[in-house]
Formats: sequence, structure tokens, C-alpha cells
Amino acid sequence: MKGVTVIAHPLVQHNLTRLRDDRTQPQEFRRLLGEIAALMLYEATRSFAVKKVYVQTPLARTNGFQLEREVVLVPVLRAGLGMLDSIFQLLPHARVGFIGLKREETTLRAMFYHQSLPKNLGDFETILIDPMLATGGSGVAALDLLVEQGARHIRLVNLVAAPEGIRAVQQKYPRVPIFTAAIDRKLNGKGYILPGLGDAGDRLFGT
Ligand code: PRP
Ligand code: URA
Repeated sequence: MKGVTVIAHPLVQHNLTRLRDDRTQPQEFRRLLGEIAALMLYEATRSFAVKKVYVQTPLARTNGFQLEREVVLVPVLRAGLGMLDSIFQLLPHARVGFIGLKREETTLRAMFYHQSLPKNLGDFETILIDPMLATGGSGVAALDLLVEQGARHIRLVNLVAAPEGIRAVQQKYPRVPIFTAAIDRKLNGKGYILPGLGDAGDRLFGT
């Protein structure tokens, strides 16, 4: 699918399979989600812009690279928190913003309840993090907010994406690259991804 990178790395797929397993308990689920998020970050940041800089080693002056823009990580609450820590460890200089959205159970509409984002978002590489892209309602709502706040260089990292969610995001934001470990079959009647992994927030936090 154009604009979507499916990360087929064996370690990512191994962890994803264990996350899907309904016998995986919250403690293990948290650990696996953190590990997989870190692995996915490499692919998701591969096209970050860099600029050439000079560096003095103990022996000589040479050239190298540094990231052109600072990074802001934006997990969508709650489930996005499960991917934050391990990504933050790899990008310790990143800022962190938060967007709180809760999908209403019957209408499946994403209800906004919180935001806390750095100023001047347009200057940053913004990584929007949410394990699940189902109807796409939450993804689109989060992107609306980021764009309203001036974000320009956005990428979306999901663990599992449904075709319906990808279509919804791409219809409104065709230039936002999506990184995922899997494009699943479809949504069920209640808006859950099939085969998916169930409710990511509930599995993370044992609710
Ligand atoms: C889940 C998930 C996404 C959203 C995806 O969150 O983490 O944010 O559903 O569904 P959508 O693509 O149909 O909008 P949920 O609203 O269940 O909140 P939670 O993370 O607090 O459990
Ligand atoms: N949210 C989840 O956590 N899982 C789904 O399958 C769909 C939405």
C-alpha cells in the first residue's frame, strides 16, 4: 500500500505474534510492546532529514551528521503510553506531547479529553504513536490537532492497522507516512481489528 511501510523484520513479527496471543498477560504485554516499539523506531526514523556537521575526534577533524530537526513524540493516551518509554530511551533528547482520546463504544467516535503539546511544532519531526489504527477516527483526530498546532513533519507509528483506518488517514492526510507491523484483515461489527490483538489499552493496563 502506497505511503504505508509494513515492518517485516523477524523480531518485530515475533513480538507481534506474542502480543496477539490471548494468553499474554499485562506484564508480558507491556514488555513486548516496549520492545517492538523500539524496533519499529529504526524504520520509522530512517528518512529523518540530517545535516552535515564537523566534529573533532581526539585525532582529527572529520565530518558527520546530526538530525536536522528536533523530535517530538506524541503518544495517544492511553495505549500509546505502552510504546513511549522504549522510544524515549532511544531518543532521550526528544520532547514529549500527549493527546488524550477515547473511542466512544457505540458510535466509535474518538472523544477528545486532553492535549499537551510543545510550541512551534512546525520546527519538529513529530512521531504520532498509537498501537491501534482501527476505524482511523482517533488517528485522524490526533492528526487534526497536530496540524492545527502547526505540525508539518509528521509520521504515524501503529503496531496494527486495519485497511479501513489506513484509508481514513490517507484520505485526509495522504502525505503522512504510516509505519506498522501489520495490516490486518478488517474490522468486526464493534470496530475491533480482526485478527488484531484485542483492546490494546485494556491488555496493557489490565482493565
Ligand atoms: C484505542 C487505540 C486507538 C483507538 C483506535 O484507544 O489505542 O487510540 O482505539 O481506534 P480507531 O482507529 O477506531 O479510533 P481507545 O479509544 O480504546 O482508548 P484507550 O487507549 O484509552 O484504551
Ligand atoms: N482499539 C483497540 O485497542 N483495538 C482494536 O482492535 C480497535 C481499537
